[in-house]
Amino acid sequence: MILLFLLSYVFVFNVAVAAMPKYVFAHYIVGNAAKLTPDQLQSDMELAKQAFIDGFALNIAQQDPSTDAVLQNAYAAAERVGNFSLFLSFDYLSGGPWPVDRVIDTINRYKTSPAQLYYERKPLVSTFEGVGNVDDWPRIREGTGCFAMPDWTSLGPERFANVRDNVDGFFSWDAWPVGKANKSIHNDQEWVNATAGKPYMMPVSPWFYTNLPQWNKNWLWEGAHLWTHRWEEVYHFQPDIVQIISWNDYGESHYIGPIYPDGIPQGAERYVQGNPHDPWRKLLPYYIASYKTASKARIRVTRDTLVFWYRLNPNDSGSNGETTGNCPQQGQPAMDPRLLAEDKIYIAALVKEPSIVLAQIGAGPVTELFASRSGMNTFEVPFGGQTGNTTFAILRDDREVAYATGPAITKQCVDGKVNWNAVVGSN
Ligand SMILES: *[C@@H]1O[C@H](CO)[C@@H](O)[C@H](O)[C@H]1NC(C)=O
Ligand SMILES: *[C@@H]1O[C@H](CO)[C@@H](O)[C@H](O)[C@H]1NC(C)=O
Ligand SMILES: *[C@@H]1O[C@H](CO)[C@@H](O)[C@H](O)[C@H]1NC(C)=O
Ligand SMILES: *[C@@H]1O[C@H](CO)[C@@H](O)[C@H](O)[C@H]1NC(C)=O
Ligand SMILES: *[C@@H]1O[C@H](CO)[C@@H](O)[C@H](O)[C@H]1NC(C)=O
Repeated sequence: MILLFLLSYVFVFNVAVAAMPKYVFAHYIVGNAAKLTPDQLQSDMELAKQAFIDGFALNIAQQDPSTDAVLQNAYAAAERVGNFSLFLSFDYLSGGPWPVDRVIDTINRYKTSPAQLYYERKPLVSTFEGVGNVDDWPRIREGTGCFAMPDWTSLGPERFANVRDNVDGFFSWDAWPVGKANKSIHNDQEWVNATAGKPYMMPVSPWFYTNLPQWNKNWLWEGAHLWTHRWEEVYHFQPDIVQIISWNDYGESHYIGPIYPDGIPQGAERYVQGNPHDPWRKLLPYYIASYKTASKARIRVTRDTLVFWYRLNPNDSGSNGETTGNCPQQGQPAMDPRLLAEDKIYIAALVKEPSIVLAQIGAGPVTELFASRSGMNTFEVPFGGQTGNTTFAILRDDREVAYATGPAITKQCVDGKVNWNAVVGSN
């Protein structure tokens, strides 16, 4: 097979790729799309496709009355978009466990769509959790002929190894680091070992902050370097499939798709409205092409691209909202959130040639950084107590080749609470 990407800013030379195609999907919360029009669903898919994403994993909760209508619209939209695949991801936690018969009926209803993803010639199906229902899967596979890659992360690799004969592969939800360390591939390696040769779907997420007391959720995980660091790990680790968590889970602040106000869960508006993440997608063609070709030498940057992210409120500008760093409910030590969500701007500069990168907060001093190699360069710039609009530039040969501005860092926080979600901008 020949891969040829000819896009706005990366050019990938012809390469022969391995027999099994690699895929990148994004986790799509159907419940948050209940009010989207067919055109909006289609637009989400077109945006994902432009970012080199192969399709969506459609998260469906069994008690949600809108599920079937959205699924029908989504499959129809994907058929119109073309070369964009979907598969079902049964959520066993949000609305409780799915009855076996409904799982079988739902898979069979959509598996004939031309937009359904087939893996090893079987319709791929996944889950969010469902560890109380591991014994349903022999029956589900028999009743549908599906390729089952559940996320049973809470089982842990050892217990999963005992039930892996029930399924065809595994998807891990373990995408975030505990404490200050970068997320390592240790757990991915454990899961690969536990699958014993069956395909592994690796999670990649850019961020995590949730404060939804009605669901007893109020914590954050370190996200500063996740989007760049984790994709570098994907490049080296070369998993069978990647799943981005998520496209539109606004309540947990890890969306990379557009914000539709109707999809924001109650209570999350404060930290989601005004916090676009779309520019994170601008890094995806580069990272996905790197992963799929397994050779960065084949990728040439054809447009200087500068993506930056930061929190809008310095850590002392309001209450911390009683948010903990780490998730104590999962047995992790509670940390001061300020230690995991630092007052810093993070910058990813994709440059054609070595360049100077400039960053400024308000009317403060200009920070000069050196992007020493063509391709990806990452930086961090502490707030240093400054507030105001942010400005960025890439300079080369005494010429400005890229310019960008970002929203003001401000001590005025909505409802008096520090917003621990990121804003993302780009040129
Ligand atoms: C899908 O991709 C194939 C191969 O790249 C191409 O020939 C075909 O035209 C595409 N179809 C659509 C609907 O974009
Ligand atoms: C995975 O298995 C290999 C081979 O048995 C072993 O060397 C390695 O330590 C295991 N990795 C993890 C993280 O368990
Ligand atoms: C995490 O990795 C990034 C590079 O991806 C590095 O700059 C940073 O220092 C690392 N953080 C820690 C705590 O090791
Ligand atoms: C939190 O804010 C204080 C006051 O501006 C600052 O000195 C400190 O560096 C910040 N902490 C972190 C971890 O960024
Ligand atoms: C910051 O940017 C906004 C939007 O572009 C603009 O309205 C505002 O005047 C700027 N503030 C300062 C202090 O430059």
